[in-house]
Amino acid sequence: MSLEGKHVLVGVGGGIAAYKAVLLVRELGRRRALVKVAMTPSATRFVGASTFGGITGTPPVTDLWDPSYPGEVHVELAAWTDAIVVAPATANLLARAAAGMADDALLATLSCAECPVVYAPAMHERMWLSPPTVRNVERLREDGARFAGPLRGPLASGEEGWGRLAEPEEIADTVAAALVGGDQLAGKTLVISVGPTLEDIDPVRFISNRSSGRMGFALASVARDRGARVVVVMGPTSVQPPPGVEVHAVRSAREMQQAVNDVADDADAIIMTAAVADYRPAEMAEQKIKKTGNKDHMSIELVKNPDILAGLGAARKGTRPALVGFAMETHDVVAYARRKLTQKKVDFMVANEASVGFGRDDTQVTIVDHDGDHPQPPGSKMAAAGAVLDRLAKLLA
Ligand code: C5P
Repeated sequence: MSLEGKHVLVGVGGGIAAYKAVLLVRELGRRRALVKVAMTPSATRFVGASTFGGITGTPPVTDLWDPSYPGEVHVELAAWTDAIVVAPATANLLARAAAGMADDALLATLSCAECPVVYAPAMHERMWLSPPTVRNVERLREDGARFAGPLRGPLASGEEGWGRLAEPEEIADTVAAALVGGDQLAGKTLVISVGPTLEDIDPVRFISNRSSGRMGFALASVARDRGARVVVVMGPTSVQPPPGVEVHAVRSAREMQQAVNDVADDADAIIMTAAVADYRPAEMAEQKIKKTGNKDHMSIELVKNPDILAGLGAARKGTRPALVGFAMETHDVVAYARRKLTQKKVDFMVANEASVGFGRDDTQVTIVDHDGDHPQPPGSKMAAAGAVLDRLAKLLA
């Protein structure tokens, strides 16, 4: 989306991802925005002011006390800018912004700006999920700010988690949506089922699968960033759901069906990413099943679980809620997905091979709809989520 003639202030916070703000400035320039940069004092320790000066043609504002600035630099910058995008937004910067502090040039500008503000956070997952940061993000959202990311993936510490800076294109898309009101999913409610289900055999044993929930959480966080109200119905997983979404935790397929059906009436779309167990033990033993004598074999009788998605497809009158299924197979995945498209009466299926998607942060999906197969480039689950939500937004438009 073109940003021709728009004035965008890029606020750079002091985090390791500060160097990526250079790519964001370039991306905004490519979309023909007029860009200025303000850096916090700690940002200048990570990336040189002259880099930003070189690509924007204007030296970045780094110091409220610089005598070479005429007048009140923060007031002038705030009046000049049509949108402010803060990238990377550190935990400290979010805390100061949420509190309305104005103790450096960027924060002072934020505190007197009346334009849309986009934060692109980047920090360690534990900082991002810490109660104060969660509170600060909620406060800033309530004040009208938008968020792009963070993404899940490898972090600077070498660990993996939520906390990577969003890609420059995604941040620029969020700025464009804020400026031109193009939020694809504003006002829509999306129900997303996530993770495995767990079917009890006895009080200590269960049947489940290796679904991590990452794909569903990626969809939830991208949908949230695009303005949707997101309701996540999640089976047991150790991966944390993204903040800013409503979470209903369930255990078994039947609990998941109940929870999804309870919220289905409010939904504009239901996306079933959950790996719902096809079968469950016919009966759950009330006591732990004991090894019996010299028996070398034992069997557990399984009965079929309800097919949640097919149930929604069969019950649907008209085109709402839109229904999206996921198909994960070890082979012939697109052919199976096409069969499920008609069997389950859904709008489209997202197919991926178990060897590519399971338990990882990257994937390669093919969108299978009534018009044909649409393979997507391999990439992050966030990027795949973006493609799925683009397709869904067209359906809901
Ligand atoms: O038939 P299969 O399990 O491969 O279909 C996958 C799709 O159907 C997924 O979207 C999954 O969430 C959904 N599903 C369901 N209820 C089941 C099994 C699968 O909603 N019992």
